[in-house]
Amino acid sequence: MSPTIRSNSPIADPIRARLPLDGKTVVLGVTGSIAAYKAADLASKLVQAGATVDVILTRSANEFIGKTTFQALTHRPVTTGLWDAQSELNIDHVALALRADCVIVAPATANTIAKLALGITDDPLTATVLATIAPVIVAPAMDAGMYESAATQRNVETLKRDGVRFAGPVEGRLASGLVGKGRLIDIETIVGLVRQAVGVRGDYEGRRVIVSAGGTRQPIDPVRFISNRSTGKMGYAIAEAARDRGADVLLVTASDLPSPAGIEVVRASTVEEMREAILPESANADLLVMAAAISDFTPTKIATEKIKKTMDRDGDGMSLELTKVEDFMPLAKGDRLVKVAFAAETNDLEANARDKIAPKGAAFVVANNVSEPGSGFGTDTNRVTFVDATGLSDALPLMSKLDVGHAILDRARPLLIKH
Ligand SMILES: Cc1cc2nc3c(=O)[nH]c(=O)nc-3n(C[C@H](O)[C@H](O)[C@H](O)COP(=O)(O)O)c2cc1C
Repeated sequence: MSPTIRSNSPIADPIRARLPLDGKTVVLGVTGSIAAYKAADLASKLVQAGATVDVILTRSANEFIGKTTFQALTHRPVTTGLWDAQSELNIDHVALALRADCVIVAPATANTIAKLALGITDDPLTATVLATIAPVIVAPAMDAGMYESAATQRNVETLKRDGVRFAGPVEGRLASGLVGKGRLIDIETIVGLVRQAVGVRGDYEGRRVIVSAGGTRQPIDPVRFISNRSTGKMGYAIAEAARDRGADVLLVTASDLPSPAGIEVVRASTVEEMREAILPESANADLLVMAAAISDFTPTKIATEKIKKTMDRDGDGMSLELTKVEDFMPLAKGDRLVKVAFAAETNDLEANARDKIAPKGAAFVVANNVSEPGSGFGTDTNRVTFVDATGLSDALPLMSKLDVGHAILDRARPLLIKH
């Protein structure tokens, strides 16, 4: 069940956003690491993403953080022992394993990793991991010496060979005060990897999807550029939706937003960098969605040194000469490639969008009136119209950008070459 987005903004109220983990059950195993307190945040983020979250605490985890916290966050009973009278595992010890769409162990201690590698099942968490056929993600957290020890490395390799996915650990400050590799990876990344894991059986499995995002920045001099108001949120939402449906995603971005988990990210600031990143990859892609706001004009000359105020000697201002930028989308070609263009317009939405279909070779254009409230740059919502060469014009209601991403993928899916 997806909760309604609540906001003070009147435009966001009627939206019923589809949450990325709606209808999915995630079993979260928490073990006895000092990082156990971070698992409360993870449980909360998974619930906010729409998942039903069943938490299992090892006995040591229970020493660090009690089950009341998780019960309150998940609104579900929390399992702490195989012989726990209140746990359904007392009746059916593999109940959670069967129900799970994904099992995530975060934080995972060296001890639990060792038990998992050997198939020891002396607690509800290890029994659940052994019994499940759902994807298993392990996010280790421990002292760097423990992580780098021969035994732990051997156990990690064994689990990887068995198909277990690892999230981190990362380098950073450890509880001991030392700096090293053993820190729990950030919670947003774990949520992204869970979304990817539950989508592996999605309708984009085996598909290569390229998405461009953000507004390109064309340099004027070493410290200045001309750009536009695009933040990249729309492109990121499409990339995440594709990842969640099982696609292998390349995100080419001019935005400063952080890289989403489970997505290959190439940072491209200028039109030229975008072109170089996208064209060679198009040959082997199934879908290219050009959500980036690519500059139409670029400074004719780039000053090699910072342009100074004093260069305007007579004080009557300076002019910047701009040259038209060649649109590279028509050049993106591949045997299987389906292309989707974006048209950000402030007037004559459909007519302007329709004019872009043929020259860009797009299967359809996602037109959006960026001057409408709740649409366009920087918002988390968008109102778009799909326009194609057959004369179709499908105006969608105001939606979350993630839902717009899914709607684009829904429309593109039947157009993909069968394989
Ligand atoms: C204060 C404290 C902090 C600990 N932190 C970690 C840790 O971050 N990672 C780890 O692998 N073990 C850590 N341990 C050791 C584990 O709690 C211990 O190996 C325990 O047996 C793990 O049990 P479990 O894997 O069943 O949760 C810590 C122990 C204590 C007392």
